[in-house]
Amino acid sequence: MKGNIKEILFTREQIRDKIAEAARSLAEEYKDKDPVIVCTLKGAFIFCADLIREMDIPCTVDFISASSYGDDTVSSGNVMIKKDLDTDIKGRHVLIIEDIIDSGNTLYKLKEILLKRNPASLKICTLLDKPSRRTADINPDVRLFTIPDKFVIGYGMDVAEKYRQLPYIGIFEPLGE
Ligand code: IMP
Ligand code: MG
Repeated sequence: MKGNIKEILFTREQIRDKIAEAARSLAEEYKDKDPVIVCTLKGAFIFCADLIREMDIPCTVDFISASSYGDDTVSSGNVMIKKDLDTDIKGRHVLIIEDIIDSGNTLYKLKEILLKRNPASLKICTLLDKPSRRTADINPDVRLFTIPDKFVIGYGMDVAEKYRQLPYIGIFEPLGE
């Protein structure tokens, strides 16, 4: 998709500062729990990498890739696991790391799937929260930023697989045809 970066929403310094703050309290909460950090692919890979390096506690890091499928015009809320965890999470403390919660459908289903595996606990940490678009009954335990209903890119997030490498978060403006 062709378009422009309309505005920088959060600079790399703003992101870094928020991550340091969140990492401090997460490290305190999980320091004796050897948590399983579940990075949701692909969007959360940069956030997760920066967050866990700031947390600096014993943990297992694993990756999961889920995507919505079904009716392609209306989000059906069905979720397909494209890449599952390698780790058995039974009895473990799980922390899901998300890039952004929009409708919440993907995460709602993902949480349901992971809870069936009987973890000791399961919490969600998201970099961005777009609460105005929520349709599923789900909220993060930790959110770093709340944002308006704009399409954002960078710092792991894409539009058509581009812009993930930007060190900041920008608002994407599609170019009219
Ligand atoms: P949801 O199921 O509607 O909450 O959206 C799930 C996923 O869609 C997020 O984890 C992101 O990967 C992607 N997504 C939602 N909004 C945006 C956005 O503004 N920019 C980039 N990706 C987004
Ligand atoms: Mg995501």
